[in-house]
Amino acid sequence: MEIFKTISEIRKYVKQERRAGKTIGFVPTMGYLHQGHLTLMKEAKKDNDIVIVSIFVNPTQFGPTEDYEQYPRNLEYDATLAKEVGVDIILAPEVEEVYLKGAVTTVRVDGLTDRLCGASRAGHFDGVCTIVSKLFNIVNPDKAYFGQKDAQQVLVIKKMVADLNFDLEIITVSIVREADGLAMSSRNKYLNQKEREAALVLYRSLQLAEQLVAAGETDAKLIKEEIIKLINQEPLAKIDYVEIVNQDNLEDINKIQGEILIALAVYIGETRLIDNLMLELK
Ligand code: PAJ
Repeated sequence: MEIFKTISEIRKYVKQERRAGKTIGFVPTMGYLHQGHLTLMKEAKKDNDIVIVSIFVNPTQFGPTEDYEQYPRNLEYDATLAKEVGVDIILAPEVEEVYLKGAVTTVRVDGLTDRLCGASRAGHFDGVCTIVSKLFNIVNPDKAYFGQKDAQQVLVIKKMVADLNFDLEIITVSIVREADGLAMSSRNKYLNQKEREAALVLYRSLQLAEQLVAAGETDAKLIKEEIIKLINQEPLAKIDYVEIVNQDNLEDINKIQGEILIALAVYIGETRLIDNLMLELK
């Protein structure tokens, strides 16, 4: 496995491999890898000849009061983990290599980004779409892998790929959880022991919603209220949003039917965590 720091190195490599007829799977990440990321890489390895992973903490997707500076970084350990699952190349550029001085182009997806995380994190998805477009242009993959953990991100990226005619396929991978149900996230590192325990309330509230739906409850408002009630019982938790929406357009729904997404963002202490549940009902 090799680590490339520059765009010219990766372009040269990709051209060479493509000429040799190899297919390329790409997993964009911000590093501090965990089993969620590694599952994406394993999937990519199954489907493609070559797997390229980018590790880049993208400044443009963080708000001014967010955790860009503190975001955990450990390239050396990440490289060990990536190598173990058969990654061929890590692209780990510096910010100056990625964002040229004077760049004024932003990729923006309208509509879908107004809601959920887009509503609480102004400009976040512009940053995500811009960096992901740039990475797609740099890496030129056949398939790119994204986690369902960031349900809105997958939807927004798929829309961007369709709208801008990117010639690649987006593959979605299910949420990978810790044994007790907490969705894996690089940000879980911020949690102290008490907060780690409190963080389970996200998964528990989704399980409660699932049980209510399984028992025949179809009133989205009522389910939302039950989720909110449960989360509010946890003193360390503060709700950012709880939404029950249509999986395709993220619009609110009243009646639980068809393909729905229950999405949460909750502060545990200072740490903002997200989780979600997709349900497909007849
Ligand atoms: P990051 O948070 O590092 O996540 C990289 C990829 O791993 C994303 O597609 C994310 O959905 C997936 N992932 C994270 N935790 C997961 C889990 N528990 N189960 C399954 N998949 C999981 O998402 C980003 O980085 C950035 O926004 C990025 C797309 C790299 C653009 O900067």
